[in-house]
Amino acid sequence: MLNGPNLSRLGTREPEVYGSATLADLTSAVQAWAAERGLEADVRQTDDEAVLIGWLHEAVESRCDVVLNPAAFTHYSYALRDAAAQVTGAHLRLIEVHLTNPYARETFRHHSVIGPVATGTIAGFALDSYRLALAALT
Ligand code: DQA
Repeated sequence: MLNGPNLSRLGTREPEVYGSATLADLTSAVQAWAAERGLEADVRQTDDEAVLIGWLHEAVESRCDVVLNPAAFTHYSYALRDAAAQVTGAHLRLIEVHLTNPYARETFRHHSVIGPVATGTIAGFALDSYRLALAALT
């Protein structure tokens, strides 16, 4: 479960948009939902595009499915898209998730460069977007 920039600020970042749950809350909820499904979730967050790309390479090498919230990188990072394409190209699943519904927000959020190379996208259900992604994986 890979989370991109500014998601470490959940809970204090624009709570009217992103809610009051923190990254720690998200991490413990995801780990509990994964355990219920017999999965082991490795939940990570970085603000650094290169680190996120490295984690996608690692997922390919270790043959792990990925749930990715690319945050703002969603909208413009072709480098992240190329890394995500390697995951699905290796016949692993990559689910793009968003807490909010980007299509109901500013115009610049309406375009995802990740979506076309993802297995699927789940957006708009707050923390439940991650729970639904785990359900999709199992
Ligand atoms: C987000 C939506 C993005 O547009 C935004 O840049 C984020 C969070 C979401 O989870 O709703 O940082 O990915």
